[in-house]
Amino acid sequence: MTDRLLLVNGPNLNLLGTRQPEVYGATTLAEIEESVSALAAELGFEVRAVQSNHEGALIDAIHAARTDCAGIIINPGAYSHTSVAIPDALTSVELPVAEVHLSNIHRREAFRHHSYVSAVADVVIAGAGPAGYEYAVRYLAGRLA
Ligand code: DQA
Repeated sequence: MTDRLLLVNGPNLNLLGTRQPEVYGATTLAEIEESVSALAAELGFEVRAVQSNHEGALIDAIHAARTDCAGIIINPGAYSHTSVAIPDALTSVELPVAEVHLSNIHRREAFRHHSYVSAVADVVIAGAGPAGYEYAVRYLAGRLA
């Protein structure tokens, strides 16, 4: 079995650090990717980090994971609430999926309360800030052990 995890971040998450810091915090995406990689390395995994503002690119990254990743951590951003194609892609590759949201989407606007991805995720972590990604690594590492 491969020891690689795919970390996927969707639209606008490239702007973390400056984007609505009162909602999403001051941590940048590069810092999140670094801390995820460091923790994953401690637990015996390497990480491929992908961020895109384009739905198709996210789907391509998920498909590519099928042959060389053991699990997927995904923050689909706003596509959580609109995309059927992303959960379809996740289902197609048959890998364990941890869905992460920095904010607690259930405490925000009603349109954020539903995520299409949650129906296919093995675990959903929302509202823990950047630590949520680390919880996701720990979940997948435990699950894949
Ligand atoms: C988000 C929540 C989404 O509603 C929003 O569109 C995002 C980020 C989060 O991490 O809290 O872009 O997924």
